[in-house]
Amino acid sequence: MKPEEILKEAYDPERFRQAGHRLVDELADHLATTLKGEGPAVLPWQTPEQAYERVQKLADTDAETVFSATLAHSIRLHHPHCAGHQITPTAPVAALAGLLSDMVNNGMGVYEVGLLGTAFERHVVKTVAQQFGMDDQADGILTSGGTLGNLTALLAARRAKSDMKSLEQSSSNPFSVMVSDQAHYCIDRAARVMGWGNQGVIQVPTNHRFQLDTEALARSLELARQAGRKVIAVVGNAGSTATGSFDDLNGIADFCERENLWFHVDGAHGAAVAFSNKHRHLVSGIERADSAVVDFHKLLLTPALATALIFRDGREAYRTFAQKAEYLWSDQESQAWYELARRTFECTKTMYGLKIFSILAEHGVAIFEANIDCLHERADQFATLVSQSSDFQLLLPPQTNIVCFRFIGSPQDRVPEHARNELNQSIRTELTQQGSFYIVQTNLQQTTWLRTTISNSMTTPDDLQQLLEKIRNLASTQIQQSKLKTEEAEVLSDKDERLLDRTGDELAEEDPAGG
Ligand SMILES: Cc1ncc(COP(=O)(O)O)c(C=O)c1O
Repeated sequence: MKPEEILKEAYDPERFRQAGHRLVDELADHLATTLKGEGPAVLPWQTPEQAYERVQKLADTDAETVFSATLAHSIRLHHPHCAGHQITPTAPVAALAGLLSDMVNNGMGVYEVGLLGTAFERHVVKTVAQQFGMDDQADGILTSGGTLGNLTALLAARRAKSDMKSLEQSSSNPFSVMVSDQAHYCIDRAARVMGWGNQGVIQVPTNHRFQLDTEALARSLELARQAGRKVIAVVGNAGSTATGSFDDLNGIADFCERENLWFHVDGAHGAAVAFSNKHRHLVSGIERADSAVVDFHKLLLTPALATALIFRDGREAYRTFAQKAEYLWSDQESQAWYELARRTFECTKTMYGLKIFSILAEHGVAIFEANIDCLHERADQFATLVSQSSDFQLLLPPQTNIVCFRFIGSPQDRVPEHARNELNQSIRTELTQQGSFYIVQTNLQQTTWLRTTISNSMTTPDDLQQLLEKIRNLASTQIQQSKLKTEEAEVLSDKDERLLDRTGDELAEEDPAGG
């Protein structure tokens, strides 16, 4: 085919219409069965090599085959047995918005290639700021994930609290940020990206509920200063990654005000509770933060990635990225809200706002509250189930939808402490490979915990009861197998001892060939 013909075929509207209808039908069928937990298992486990081999074979097929294979061989977040990492089963309307965004492909870097997308973003950002309890001064951006949102906030902190007043300056000051030992690794990564080195993050100890010990802040600051560090910010966790623990944000805000430090809230996971009347109290104090992030792709039904970064004083975002880019903007000093790339890392970016706005337009803000309340309730129910089961141990009552627990064996047949980590790790490996449930694990103070993030409102208490039963069965098989292995090893070592006891003549008689 001639180049023109190849391209004409690719853009053929009828071809698109038919393929689109087929795909939407397939997705709707997928949704219908998956939400009920019917059809294939939640995790169609395959090794990376198998996945790669499959993809190589798909290269010679067509898009329809590729789409079907993707559905068949991907983890199913809409399945009620999916409770692993912090990622939401998308609201179908947001997935449709994703298709629309991908087709119109508005680049968003400057207003002309954003238009409505830019306005959607503003609306969403203002809605979040309002939910956080901030006033009209607050403003921000949507960006590519909590990791980038946190880095952007720390860049703003550095500009505001140091001698580095723009991206065009450099500084040799050893800056640091204080954060609990439960912070997501992206805070440490952000500090290193900014060149702050090993001491860029000062870890503040946590209490028995894995919340930052606000009493320890002063001492940590003093030690950091004695070590020659210039501390510029404190990051509070609004939902730590491992356990979903919420720091005392008001306590941190008080401290930051006293010490003139930037206060950032990493609410990537849990700041979503600001949408719930019942659970908003968990982020009380977020309205005092200089900056805060929340991921819409964790608890708020939006396809990844979609993160809001809010500044209490919206002007901070412009100041952070103050830099010359004449080929994009004519007026370098202006703070026009609609020139988004002045405030973000990204130049071209996707229409995040459209996906979130579509959910709001279709279902109203109440859907976020409904999702949060439902998931929190389910997590509480699961925690109760675990604590009522004498062969399981609950790490702590959940504050959000994250529940950590482990199998310890029945009171009559306790698994010895030294064997529990390995047992729980192998339970989780086996679960993953069998694929009937998806959960993850975490290590805290040298202890392995099974970890669920109950992200799907379709997950019922009965599903969670089944999960415990499944773990029990796996544990019993694993224990049986390891007993057999131990017995075999004992038999073998007995045999070795008997062999050692015998004389060379006796052995030679049994095996004259000396084999
Ligand atoms: C508390 C916290 N902060 C930041 C992140 C990183 O967010 P993202 O995966 O959107 O980059 C996570 C992800 O799990 C998180 O739990």
